Amino acid sequence: MTIDRFGRSIHYLRISLTDHCNLRCVYCMPESMIFRPNAALMQDDELLRLVNVFARLGFDKIHLTGGEPTVRLHVVDLVRQIAAVPGITSLSMTTNGVLLEKLAHPLKEAGLQRVNVSLDTLDVQRFHSITRWGSLERVWAGILAAEEAGLTPVKINTVVVRGFNDGDVSGLARLTLEHPWQVRFIEMMPFGGDTTFQQSQVVSDAEIRERIQAELGPLELQEDGRLDGEARIYRLPGAQGELGFISSVTLPFCASCSRARLTADGKLRLCLLRDKELDLLTPLRQGATDEELRQLVVAGIWVKPWGHGLADGEVATNSVMNEIGG
Ligand code: GTP
Ligand code: 5AD
Ligand code: SF4
Repeated sequence: MTIDRFGRSIHYLRISLTDHCNLRCVYCMPESMIFRPNAALMQDDELLRLVNVFARLGFDKIHLTGGEPTVRLHVVDLVRQIAAVPGITSLSMTTNGVLLEKLAHPLKEAGLQRVNVSLDTLDVQRFHSITRWGSLERVWAGILAAEEAGLTPVKINTVVVRGFNDGDVSGLARLTLEHPWQVRFIEMMPFGGDTTFQQSQVVSDAEIRERIQAELGPLELQEDGRLDGEARIYRLPGAQGELGFISSVTLPFCASCSRARLTADGKLRLCLLRDKELDLLTPLRQGATDEELRQLVVAGIWVKPWGHGLADGEVATNSVMNEIGG
């Protein structure tokens, strides 16, 4: 087990498979985003070596992100190899769903257990403009394919942005009446770069709940406020699925954080919203042994920052979301 200096057990690794994406969501990156050349990204063998180092340190949960992880070359083979690493008991992915119709079954067969799909609106036009060119129909087909393939429970991630999709929350919540999904409403966090949305457009989880209750009736808090990961879980009466609320801004969960991140170019990132990173890929390419890599990771984890500091008005990152992987 790897412990940081605050006594937190760090065993959840989020790996960004690529900074590339087949969409350009307006709150995530500029339309003219310049991506890294492939040679700057971890190659499959390098990534697997690092996963083995992390697994031997007690990391048991791996969550694959991007950019968009499904656009990584040979992603199914890579998932198969990650799933086979001894000690990895949980393997999931956050995806925009565009390629899921084709990939859900192969990914499941390769050992992926679950997917979280980003979906910010059910309005065809608005979906198109949030994603700049995405097709809601394709993502919907992808979600259904994930369900059918058994990548369950499917979680839907909705980042709520004032004046843009805050009017869509009840429609999205209503999905849980018919489907056994967990629809999660996420407070928008401030990232660096030239993204369109600003902090003033954050909608608090409390406000989102009020909105849903006003339109759909009372929400039932599940199991006295149990957290599923970082989401607080509610249910509409009689619903098949659940509602999750991720209050990263108004109710930070840093005190119980168990995460570390590996960026697509092989850096250990210690907090989502802090730019402190430790290069693992360069030493690996220069011939570091597994033991040397292990020592680098342990030393990095030890100095993991306490948290993101948003409550104190800090905006501590210059990074763009697609480089970190959310
Ligand atoms: P599972 O628990 O495996 O279902 O995934 P997850 O909820 O950890 O991951 P997901 O990629 O679906 O992220 C959901 C939301 O949580 C996104 O908006 C992320 O940006 C946010 N998030 C992910 N990691 C962190 C983190 O370390 N800190 C904070 N504050 N928010 C995070
Ligand atoms: N704040 C919070 N979540 C975000 N995501 C993308 N940008 C932001 C932001 N500014 C979400 C995506 C995806 C997950 C990895 O992070 O919608 O579901
Ligand atoms: Fe791509 Fe995800 Fe960013 Fe949208 S939020 S542009 S799908 S990486």
